[in-house]
Amino acid sequence: MSPFTLSRTLPADATAAALRADVARGLALPADPGPAGTAGVPALKQLPPKWFYDARGSELFERITELPEYYPTRAEREILEHRAAEIAEVTGARTLVELGSGSSEKTRHLLRALPELAAYIPVDVSESALTQAGQALLAEHPGLTVHALVADFQSGLTLPSTPGPRLVAFLGGTIGNLLPDERAGFLSSVARMLSPGDALLLGTDLVKDEATLVAAYDDAQGVTAQFNKNVLAVINRELGADFDPADFDHVALWDRDREWIEMRLRARTELTVKIPMLDLLVHFTAGEELRTEVSAKFRWERVRGELAAAGLDLRHWWTDEAGRFALSLAVRD
Ligand code: SAH
Ligand code: AVI
Repeated sequence: MSPFTLSRTLPADATAAALRADVARGLALPADPGPAGTAGVPALKQLPPKWFYDARGSELFERITELPEYYPTRAEREILEHRAAEIAEVTGARTLVELGSGSSEKTRHLLRALPELAAYIPVDVSESALTQAGQALLAEHPGLTVHALVADFQSGLTLPSTPGPRLVAFLGGTIGNLLPDERAGFLSSVARMLSPGDALLLGTDLVKDEATLVAAYDDAQGVTAQFNKNVLAVINRELGADFDPADFDHVALWDRDREWIEMRLRARTELTVKIPMLDLLVHFTAGEELRTEVSAKFRWERVRGELAAAGLDLRHWWTDEAGRFALSLAVRD
């Protein structure tokens, strides 16, 4: 069998249908919107962050990981450099499943530490990221079998049958891009994926001072602003909309009560956008904001509690030297 296979678990039209549904739900407003928060009417226009990641969005994210302000990637890499051997020893993993694997860049530390690994299963919505990562990894690990899955990790995954034990890695702090109720559903589905002896390796960004957090999401070079506006280009291309990214400002704000960063796009003037494939006109008042991402920051108590609620037992908690980011290892209880 070829050492690299790529499969799509959903037909392309399912992805298109999901985008149409998310855009219709998140951007549509009735003729008379009524007071904010009226039942059924979103108080704030919003879109799920998974739509950032077409080929350009994936490339922009990689540029973000190299920005001086964006510390999470460096902090998580530091932990992996120090702990990969321990993770390998504790888990004895023969299959590594990685959810939202992107470039798989940090995963190299795990792959190097796991010489007995029989299969690597990267899962991502971005086919371009999976293809590029697969090629780069095989050049470094010619003996490795890579089964790449183009799939939504929130929509019930069917994994190929490969040798256990399995280590399911969810790195980068991407769990923070899910809303609390989505995290609960997601963690329960991961728990169901684990057999006795399997483990979850979870990366979470940690609560810290507001200035550091906001700078990480509003960098001086404006790469995060381009990443944020890329969702408008995706909607233009896929649904024939006529968003002009120049009509919007990038906004990053820290919600201290919910302990999450929000990225938003703020309309510079009153404007109306046509989305022909949805037969929809979307009206923005001047200054109106569209929420494009939530990025939750965690404390140990919340990570342990959310894992426990999903039937997962937190066994190891490792942070970088500066205490900015954590990696947790959990098993089914
Ligand atoms: N794990 C990498 C990449 C993080 S960026 C790192 O730590 O650097 C988030 C990745 O998750 C992107 O590659 C994006 O395409 C993917 N992603 C986001 N939402 C997803 C979803 N619902 N299902 C599958 N992949 C998703
Ligand atoms: C992928 N995810 C963890 C990133 C984050 O930090 O929430 C996405 C990102 N958004 C803006 N910059 C990076």
